[in-house]
Amino acid sequence: MSSDKEMLFKDFIEATEKGPTDLRLFLFDIFDPAPELKDDFKFPTVMRGFIKRFPFMFFGGEGSEVTMHYDIDCANVFLTQFVGSKHVILFPPEESDKIYHHPFTVKSLITPESPDYEKFPALRNVKGYETILKHGETLFMPTRYWHYMHYLDFSFGLALRSQSNMNTRARGVFNIAAHYLVDKVGNILLPNRWHEWKEARAYQNAKPYEKTIDDRLETIDKKKLSDISSDLR
Ligand SMILES: [Fe+2]
Repeated sequence: MSSDKEMLFKDFIEATEKGPTDLRLFLFDIFDPAPELKDDFKFPTVMRGFIKRFPFMFFGGEGSEVTMHYDIDCANVFLTQFVGSKHVILFPPEESDKIYHHPFTVKSLITPESPDYEKFPALRNVKGYETILKHGETLFMPTRYWHYMHYLDFSFGLALRSQSNMNTRARGVFNIAAHYLVDKVGNILLPNRWHEWKEARAYQNAKPYEKTIDDRLETIDKKKLSDISSDLR
C-alpha cells in the first residue's frame, strides 16, 4: 500500500492536533520502532486467532474520514479508542448489495453521513449501526463488516485483528487473491471499461432493493385488487 504523503511522525502529530485536517495515518505499525509499547496492552481472550504480529494503530485529525469499505483480509477487528472520538457507521455483509458494493473490490461509493437517495435509491432500505466511539471504548467489528469513520476530533486508536477460524482465513486469502489479480489486471488492461462494468454490476445487484415500502405496498394492493376482481368474475 502506498502513501499519499511522507512526513516525520512528530510533524504529523503536531499537524493533526492543531485542528481540522484530512491527514490520517492508518495501519501504522508503531510497534516496529517502539516494541516496548506491546507491554502496555493484552490481547482479549474472548476470541481465538489474534494476528499478534500486526497490532495496528490509526491516527486522524479532526474532520478526516475513512471511506466506506470492509477489510480485505476478512479479519474480526477490536478497535479501541485512546484519545478523541469518531463517528462510526457499520453495515453487515448481508447489506452489501444495498450499499452498491463494487465487485472485486472492498469499496462502496456511498457517503453514509449524507446519503444520496437519488443516486443510490437502495440506500433507503439498508439497515446498519451507528455510534460515537469515545475514549476508553472498544468497538467489535465482525468479519467483512462494512465501516465508515469520521474523526470528530484528533484521535487515535489500536486495532487488534483476529482470524478466528479456517473459513475466515480462507475467505481472506481468496479475497486478497481476487483483488490483487482480477481487479489489478482489469484496471491495467481496461481501466475505464472495468470501472464501468463494476459500477453497472453494483447497480444491477442493488436494483431489487430500490423499492420503498410504499412501492411494495402499492404492488401488494394492486395484486390483491386483481385477485379480488378475478374472484368476482
Ligand atoms: Fe478498515
